[in-house]
Amino acid sequence: MFTIIICKSYEEVSNKAFALFRDMVKSKPNCVLGLATGSSPLGTYQRLIDDHRINGTSYKDVVTFNLDEYIGLPEDHPESYHTFMKQHFFSQIDIRPENTHLPSTEGDEVKNCEEYEKMLEPYDIDIQLLGIGSDGHIGFNEPGTPFDAPTHVTELDHRTIRDNARFFGNDISKVPTKAITMGSGTIMRKAKKVVLIATGANKADAIYGMIKGDKDVNCPASVLQNHPDVVVIIDREAAGRL
Ligand code: F6R
Repeated sequence: MFTIIICKSYEEVSNKAFALFRDMVKSKPNCVLGLATGSSPLGTYQRLIDDHRINGTSYKDVVTFNLDEYIGLPEDHPESYHTFMKQHFFSQIDIRPENTHLPSTEGDEVKNCEEYEKMLEPYDIDIQLLGIGSDGHIGFNEPGTPFDAPTHVTELDHRTIRDNARFFGNDISKVPTKAITMGSGTIMRKAKKVVLIATGANKADAIYGMIKGDKDVNCPASVLQNHPDVVVIIDREAAGRL
């Protein structure tokens, strides 16, 4: 079930997502957060950092699982998602590094997927933050991925590679072509609540497909039509086709 919140700006989207995550951490100090990277969550993370600094909200018992990581970049590469999370969130709060999880892409990739599923096994994700790709992906579950997919190795869609070139000096040839992603099936099974944030007109087709389109693997986010609790926080441009 979707609860749709349409906002005036990226700031308002970030404020609303922040409030949901802060309330979770305050009401359940040992909660499990599902986290995303990319441009959409930056404002949310900044607000959580500010709240930690100003109000002392603590993450010492919080556990996190991220959605995905590029294959082919070392973990300490400036554009890896390991680096992104350290830089934009983990290093600025009091979370224990051993409580943070991202898929490892070093060594045997298939084994790493199995291990990530195993790591997740004892947990439920209390609240899962998602962005959405212009092609409708969640995590890196690209169009065509079965709705029940577990954590897996994925080939990035050409639209994802094009969209993410901005992080690689606009050089498409530098963008990794593969990643490990938590599967759509894993997200559906593990996340008790989903908060999906998106801004900008380039997300309008994907948001429409997710909410009003057919449940179809060509729009991976449409699997969320089967989820009991999805809060969609978007600006007017992303809501343009609703
Ligand atoms: C990132 C992720 C992706 C992004 C999506 C939107 O961990 O899983 O699904 O959420 O590509 O990215 P932005 O927010 O940069 O538009």
